[in-house]
Amino acid sequence: MQKTSACAKIILSGEHAVVYGKPGIALPVTNLQTVIKVEKADTFSFVADKELEEHEEKKLHDLYHFVSSSLKVKPMHKIHIQSNLPISSGLGSSASLTVALIRSLLVHHGYKLNDSKINLLAFEAEKIFHGTPSGIDNTVVALEKPVYYERGSIEILNLKFPLSFIIADTGIRSDTKKVVEDLRKRYEKDEVKHSAIHDKIEMVTRRARPALEQGHLVELGMLMLENHNLLKELKVSCSELDALVKAAIKAGAYGAKMAGAGRGGHIIALVDEPNRDEVFKALEDVSPRIIITEVK
Ligand code: MEV
Repeated sequence: MQKTSACAKIILSGEHAVVYGKPGIALPVTNLQTVIKVEKADTFSFVADKELEEHEEKKLHDLYHFVSSSLKVKPMHKIHIQSNLPISSGLGSSASLTVALIRSLLVHHGYKLNDSKINLLAFEAEKIFHGTPSGIDNTVVALEKPVYYERGSIEILNLKFPLSFIIADTGIRSDTKKVVEDLRKRYEKDEVKHSAIHDKIEMVTRRARPALEQGHLVELGMLMLENHNLLKELKVSCSELDALVKAAIKAGAYGAKMAGAGRGGHIIALVDEPNRDEVFKALEDVSPRIIITEVK
């Protein structure tokens, strides 16, 4: 049985606003992977290395049937899933599972699709999880490169220097679909207020792009914090995320922000060699799970 895999992601800038057509920047997290093996079987079944809740199992069934019918393969496989990605925590577990599953069925049947076709199929499949995804999560996971994403247009970003991020978990699971739907309702009630915040997030994302590409850590860190404060204004943060951001900044991170849908999940903190250990220690005291990742 051949193994295939797909990475995780973090959103550096522009989450939520990207759903409304604003630009977003997402980065691959390659040290977190969903690994899938496919075995021929009489019917569909799966084994996973973590316990799934009933609604997660249902989504997995729906995803598998959508992908197998799109690829025109009979639904007769036993799928083995192994993953070191936490579920429902802003790190793109559904996009990673989707891309890994598509790749695994392609390999199993000896079919070939390029990454941009895999990405298009993953975007359709992501609707099972998220209802109205912007497409940024599946794109960064399928391409495994830093991306600048705006209304379906994708630019791959080349970083002058590798950057280090500490990812710290609140330990609270969050449902992206619910947070996005809730924000949509509030947007419809007060479009002027929400559009103004989206415009400010757009400015931050446009300025974050060159700072990321050129490795200007102080500027990028400041923009991350600005982005976090705007997400607080959108009411998608929570006290646990705010506390992690505060701890990272106090310990000397260049910047920190919640990353992903929010209301739980993770924060990311920008660090380099001199401040990394200090920030790591500070976050270790207040977070149940810390990951360090390097983005190239
Ligand atoms: C989730 O990783 C990012 C959101 O902007 C949703 C989306 O873009 O589909 C919150």
